[in-house]
Amino acid sequence: MKVRSKVKFLFFGILPMIAAFSATAATAPIDSEAAIKLAKSKSCLRCHGITKKKEGPPYKTIADFYKSNPEAEDVIFEHVTTGSKIKMSDGHKEYHKSIGDLNPDAVRNLVRWILSQ
Ligand code: HEC
Repeated sequence: MKVRSKVKFLFFGILPMIAAFSATAATAPIDSEAAIKLAKSKSCLRCHGITKKKEGPPYKTIADFYKSNPEAEDVIFEHVTTGSKIKMSDGHKEYHKSIGDLNPDAVRNLVRWILSQ
């Protein structure tokens, strides 16, 4: 293959394939039912309402806050899988609940559900 056609192949062959693949991954539908089930089983909803303020901020507030942040999904994914330190309403600090032991796809689905509120 001549260099020129190699470049052509890269531009018209591989790059669109990568673009198409990441677009599909980013727009895969959110499974709300699975997300809510997981949130319930991990007691996330004990501290987070959808719109109601509990111990933690409502998911709608979190979604609004991260609306224009292109890294939101990764930031939240990290937050719920590493258990960072948080401040509770009475001022004491504790580690946030971590669900790092789970299938990453299930966690990502939950993250995307939170961000879609
Ligand atoms: C014991 C109460 C409690 C539980 C249980 C809890 N959270 Fe939280 N969460 C909080 C508090 C409080 C904050 C606010 C932390 C801060 O702003 O420092 C928070 C913040 C968050 C945020 C925002 C993080 C950010 O970077 O802005 C997300 C997303 C979140 N929680 C998701 C979850 C998920 C998912 C679960 C279940 C696996 C969960 N939380 C379980 C209390 C809780």
